Amino acid sequence: MTTETWTAVDDYITGLLLPTDPILDAAQEASRAAGLPPISVSAAQGKFLHLLARIQGARRILEIGTLAGYSTIWLARALPAGGRLITLEFDPKHAGVAQANLARAGLSHMVDVRVGRAIDALPSLAGDAPFDLIFIDADKPSTTDYFKWSLKLSRKGSVIVVDNVVRAGGLVDPSADEDARGMRTFVAALAAEPRVSATAIQTVGIKGYDGFAIAVVDTPA
Ligand code: SAH
Ligand code: DHB
Ligand code: MG
Repeated sequence: MTTETWTAVDDYITGLLLPTDPILDAAQEASRAAGLPPISVSAAQGKFLHLLARIQGARRILEIGTLAGYSTIWLARALPAGGRLITLEFDPKHAGVAQANLARAGLSHMVDVRVGRAIDALPSLAGDAPFDLIFIDADKPSTTDYFKWSLKLSRKGSVIVVDNVVRAGGLVDPSADEDARGMRTFVAALAAEPRVSATAIQTVGIKGYDGFAIAVVDTPA
């Protein structure tokens, strides 16, 4: 099996199950035009996050790592009226593109893009917590820190999803790059955390070979 097959299958799934969406297409085009890296979740993954948020009945969502707001749009569209999403982004240029994309999507009223280092913003979110769903997708070496903060900002039953945990198998390679090593540290922390029930799922597709971790909080920190 090759990435070519994975991409063909992703295109097939997307063609059948994900209707053409001019707003999401425009968001990706604006991201590309602004020179942002093409590292958002795929369409099928974005819809997967959207479905998780709906299954969860999420009314408050926290995202760490906005980029151009592509995953943000998928998640925010799962919110009911009165729902709210806070997304943390370090790079002001990324945040600006995201804000324009969210405005085009008609979601600005429910989404708050906070610019700065996530680790500095997280302690200030207590008043917005608990979040029903938290999506961690920023600088990979900090994932364990973000996970620990997520536990503090959770309630019993909160869902924590982490992107990019497998990194083409780097997860099982102790000499892999610092992003993959960050994920080894994170999965070890997940394993050692008695307050959550968790697993990780490998994925292939248009973005190559990677995976998500998912945890349900049994006892908040
Ligand atoms: N969730 C997005 C992709 C995020 S890419 C999507 O799927 O559409 C990762 C983002 O995290 C980048 O925009 C990067 O600038 C941001 N980032 C990196 N380090 C960060 C930090 N310390 N705090 C907050 N955001 C950070
Ligand atoms: C990459 C992919 C991601 O989904 C991400 O959040 C960060 C980096 C990458 O492929 O490099
Ligand atoms: Mg990612």
